[in-house]
Amino acid sequence: MNTELASLLTGHWLSDLANFSAFYFQRVPKISWIGFYLDDGVSLKLGPFQGKIACTEIAYSRGVCGAAFSKKECLIVDDVHEFPGHIACDPESRSEIVLPVMIDGDCVGVLDVDSTAPASFTSEDQSIFEEGLRLLLERNPTLAEIKKRL
Ligand code: SME
Repeated sequence: MNTELASLLTGHWLSDLANFSAFYFQRVPKISWIGFYLDDGVSLKLGPFQGKIACTEIAYSRGVCGAAFSKKECLIVDDVHEFPGHIACDPESRSEIVLPVMIDGDCVGVLDVDSTAPASFTSEDQSIFEEGLRLLLERNPTLAEIKKRL
């Protein structure tokens, strides 16, 4: 699957974040929402995504996104109702995986992926998204400077 993703990436970061989201949204039926929250130095701001309208800003201390960003680690949440502080952009969302977007040890944002079914995401999904992010960053070395552009 990620081979096809690699062929879509152009090196223009905004287009690539948009098509990255659209690619997985189209290919993986269990995904109800997928997109990026990017660090602008103040909080996490909504970036390119696919799915329902979402909250535009997430504080570093809030939600699964804030937790994954602050810990710089992937979080898989089988039941979002059990996660203290979960932000319900879509009340039908039941499970979630959030991966940090890491560049040279810095977290520049997160990839957030939601499902309306419980326990939708596994370590296998984590590996697929990690590989996808690696391809994205390989094509977009200037993403490290993203804060200056938000
Ligand atoms: N559920 C996320 C917020 C983003 S929306 O799901 C798109 C969270 O708790 O951080």
